[in-house]
Amino acid sequence: MEKVKIGLLGFGTVGSGVWKVIEANNNAISKRCRKELEITKILVKSLEKARSAEAPENLFTDKFEDVLSSDVDIVVEVMGGIEPAKEYILKAISAKKHVVTANKQLLATNGEEIYKAAVENGVKVFYEASVAGGIPILNTLKDPLSANQIEEIIGIVNGTTNYILSKMTEDKKDFETMLKVAQDLGYAEAAPAADVEGFDAAYKLCILSSLAFKSSIDVEKVHREGICDITPLDIEYAREMGYTVKLLAIAKKKEKGLELRVHPTFIPSNHPLASVSDSYNAVFLKGNAVENLMFYGRGAGDLPTASAVVGDIVSVITSENSPSYEDSVLGNIEKCDILPIGDLETQYYVRLTVEDKPGVLGKITSILGDKNVSLSTVIQKGTKDSSVSLVFMTHKTSESNLQAAFEEVTKLEGVHKIENLIRIES
Ligand code: NAP
Ligand code: HSE
Repeated sequence: MEKVKIGLLGFGTVGSGVWKVIEANNNAISKRCRKELEITKILVKSLEKARSAEAPENLFTDKFEDVLSSDVDIVVEVMGGIEPAKEYILKAISAKKHVVTANKQLLATNGEEIYKAAVENGVKVFYEASVAGGIPILNTLKDPLSANQIEEIIGIVNGTTNYILSKMTEDKKDFETMLKVAQDLGYAEAAPAADVEGFDAAYKLCILSSLAFKSSIDVEKVHREGICDITPLDIEYAREMGYTVKLLAIAKKKEKGLELRVHPTFIPSNHPLASVSDSYNAVFLKGNAVENLMFYGRGAGDLPTASAVVGDIVSVITSENSPSYEDSVLGNIEKCDILPIGDLETQYYVRLTVEDKPGVLGKITSILGDKNVSLSTVIQKGTKDSSVSLVFMTHKTSESNLQAAFEEVTKLEGVHKIENLIRIES
C-alpha cells in the first residue's frame, strides 16, 4: 500500500498521542485512506528527554530542516506557541506540504497569513484539534452546518479551567492544587496562565466565530476574563441560588455586530452546560435552520486531541479536491463589528464586603436605582464580624449602567470592596 509520510513537530502530550493513535489504529485508518500513515521524522526541543510513547530513536531530530528534507507529505505541528511554529508552518507550506496543526494561539493571531499562504501554494491547512479537543466542531461548521446562519455559540472550550471549576464545585478542592493536577494530566498549556486567564478560550472563540460567522476576527477585541478571582464563596452562593459557575466562551450575532466574550458565568444548574464536568468541553450552538445543537466530549488530553489531529490527516488525504477551512474563512470574509462589553445586557451577580451598620444597604440601592439597575435578590448573612458579605443579583440591565453604578458604590463610606462581579447567562 502507498505510504503517506508525516513529519511531526512536537512529541509532548499531543504529539505522543498522535503516535499512539496511529500505532493503534493504522489498519482501520489505511482502509479509510487507502494509504498507510508513516511518521518519518519527529522534531523535539531536547533529544535527551524520556518519552512516554515508544518511537524509534532514529526518528527524532532537533532540527526542523531534517523534517523538510526527509520528503514528508504532511507536516503536523503540535509544538505550540507563535515562534518558531509559525516560521516552520510557513516554510512547510512554501515547500508544498499540507499542514495539520492544533495551535489555537497561532491561528487566532496569525491565521489569515497562514491560510493565504496555503491557498497561494495549493496546500491545505487543517486545525480541528485547535478547538474543543476531540469534538469535531470545526469540520461540522464547515460542511454539515453550512446551510445555516449561525446565530449563537456558547461553549465550554477550555478543559483545564472546566476541570478546576468542577473540582472546586463538586469536591470542594482548592484552585492551586487542581491546577497542578490539570498540568500533570497534560491538559494545561505550557504557560497555564493561558488557560486560567481565559486567553486559550478567547483564541478558540475567535477560530470558532471566524468559521461560524465567516468573519475576520481580531482576538484583541474579544472581551476576556479568567477564573483566578472565583472563590469557594462565589461557588457556594451560586449553588444556593440555583446556578453553577463555568468559564464560557460566548458569541452572539446581534443587529449591530457580534458579541464576543469569555468570562466566568453563572448558568442555571439545570442547563445542559452545567453538568459538563472534568476536562470535558461542550459547544452549544443555534442555527437558523437546525435550531439548537450541543456537542460534548473530551476537550484536552493526549488521545482525544490526537483523535482530531489524525482525523485531519485523514481529511488531507481523502479530500484532495474539496475545499478546506481556509477557503471557508478567506472565501467570504465579512468584516463584522465587535460590540463593546458595555453594550451587553444581561443579569449580574455582585458580591461586596461592607460594614455591617444601618444605612449602608440603603445608600447602595439608591445608587443602583438612580442608574436604572434593578435588583432581583439581596443576601446578607448574619455574622458577628463588623464586615459582612453582601450579595446582589440584578434583573437584566446594561453593563455600562451596572459598571457606572458600582464605581459610585465603591466610593461610599462603609463599602470596603467589590469582591466579584459575574455575568449570568439564563
Ligand atoms: P507539550 O506537551 O508542551 O509538547 C510540546 C512539544 O513540542 C514537545 O515535544 C517539545 O519538545 C516540542 N517543542 C516545543 N518547542 C519546540 C521548539 N522550539 N523546537 C522543537 N520542538 C519544540 O504541548 P502539548 O500539550 O502537546 O500541546 C501542543 C499543541 O497542541 C499546543 O499548540 C497546544 O495548545 C495544542 N493543544 C494541546 C492540547 C492538550 O490537551 N495538551 C489539546 C489541544 C490542543 P520537548 O519534548 O523536547 O520539550
Ligand atoms: N489547555 C487546553 C485546555 C488544551 O485546557 O483546554 C486543549 O486545547
